[in-house]
Amino acid sequence: MFIFSKIEQLRAFLGRQRASGTAIGFIPTMGALHEGHLRLVAAAQDAGDLAVCSIFVNPTQFNNTGDLEKYPRTVEQDIAMLEKAGCPVLFVPDAAEVYPDGQALREKYDLGYLETVLEGAYRPGHFQGVAQVVERLLRITEPDRLYLGQKDYQQCAVLQRLIGLKGLPVTLVTVPTVREADGLAMSSRNRRLTEPQRNLAGLIYQCLVSIQAKQGIQSFAIVQKECRDLLEQKGFRPDYIEIADAGTLELLKDYEPGRKTVALIAAYIGDIRLIDNIVL
Ligand code: PAJ
Repeated sequence: MFIFSKIEQLRAFLGRQRASGTAIGFIPTMGALHEGHLRLVAAAQDAGDLAVCSIFVNPTQFNNTGDLEKYPRTVEQDIAMLEKAGCPVLFVPDAAEVYPDGQALREKYDLGYLETVLEGAYRPGHFQGVAQVVERLLRITEPDRLYLGQKDYQQCAVLQRLIGLKGLPVTLVTVPTVREADGLAMSSRNRRLTEPQRNLAGLIYQCLVSIQAKQGIQSFAIVQKECRDLLEQKGFRPDYIEIADAGTLELLKDYEPGRKTVALIAAYIGDIRLIDNIVL
């Protein structure tokens, strides 16, 4: 695997690849890699793209310094996993490389409604930071395709909007969520769960499945309350349990079986915040 930490060297390498007709598939990550990340790399390779993975724990998207400090950093292990998965290119810049002029936002992205709901409402500024770093990474790597996980459903919508706002010549590819055997969506933050917390964490996915199964049978308000009660009884602190339009993320009061919708949950276990979703 070719590993770059400097923009200039990465760009020179990718320029040569592009000149010989190779398409580039970009997979941005914050490291602490797991099977979900590797599935994105595999999707790029299956499409015939040169997979370029990046690892950068982006400080500007953390709305809570504790979360940034505690974010797992396992670069050596990550490199070994990527090597084993046959990932050809890795970019591991430091903050000075990504933000040579400092981390302040140069502009506010017009993310519209997306920034006011769900993760946008509970994590103020988070999506501005995500848009900021991904715009920079896209301008550095200039990929043909950007591979993102459905796990972060709203992030996909935000980045699709960024691509439109900036007219970036890249196609977004969304890859289905990779789960543990009990349904828990794989996440770098799962490493921080204690064993008892880990044993409970699959409940979030079970709630999503029950929301899906009860469509057309019960009103969403009832299902939502059942899920909230169950999660709280088990010690979770849910931020939200919602259904929304799958395209716009407009929140819906009740199921709309004729419409493509998505159910989304965010909940804390201890000080660890987990999110997940399922398309209905
Ligand atoms: P990170 O949380 O490391 O996730 C990197 C990519 O992996 C994202 O596209 C995410 O949706 C995807 N991913 C995470 N868990 C997954 C799972 N269980 N199944 C499938 N895909 C999964 O998301 C970020 O980093 C950052 O916000 C980033 C886009 C890199 C910008 O800093």
